[in-house]
Amino acid sequence: MWIFEIHKKGVKRVKNLNEFHKKIKRVLITEEQIAEAIKIASKRIDALYDGRPILLVSILKGAFVFMADICRAVTVPCEIGFMCAKSYYAGTVSAGAVKITMDLEQDISKYHVVIVEDIIDTGRTLNDVVNLLKTRNPISLEVITLLDKPSRRVVDFKADMALFTIPDHFVIGYGLDCGEYYRNLSYIAEYSEE
Ligand code: IMP
Ligand code: MG
Repeated sequence: MWIFEIHKKGVKRVKNLNEFHKKIKRVLITEEQIAEAIKIASKRIDALYDGRPILLVSILKGAFVFMADICRAVTVPCEIGFMCAKSYYAGTVSAGAVKITMDLEQDISKYHVVIVEDIIDTGRTLNDVVNLLKTRNPISLEVITLLDKPSRRVVDFKADMALFTIPDHFVIGYGLDCGEYYRNLSYIAEYSEE
């Protein structure tokens, strides 16, 4: 048995392995389903950019697994970039510019940019990130998301490509976490709130 005490203020850690596994309520999307969807999405990206080089940009940390798979599935020349972003909202109104805690290295005015996101929930993060990146005048800008929870949207935001539309469940796995755990599951599961 292993015990994690409160690690950061307010962040609950699991107490033991049994509790850890009990939080995985059910598998929503299998590893095979994800792999199949990535094949289809990467073919669409290849067709869309037709040999033109692209810059895949992922927002850490959640999208790191999806990024790793999508960048290996596309066949157009591609570079990768990462950023960390946090949006501050009062209700549905952005409280100002998105806070970038780690920015891209690239000057995106030279690139066809494809944002690779794990999930669109309220839409706030991507709405702000897209608005920010547009001010940097990329040649083009597209958004691909693994998961979309449209029923949770508070700002009007739509991805150009969403691989799976899911109901309003909190999900974990394949990069997505709860309290930083479960990112290493190879599938997407519903998290048990009990
Ligand atoms: P937003 O609400 O669309 O701005 O989403 C912000 C971020 O919250 C996402 O990029 C995810 O990292 C995280 N998030 C939203 N829904 C879930 C979920 O169901 N599981 C894990 N993380 C989530
Ligand atoms: Mg994310």
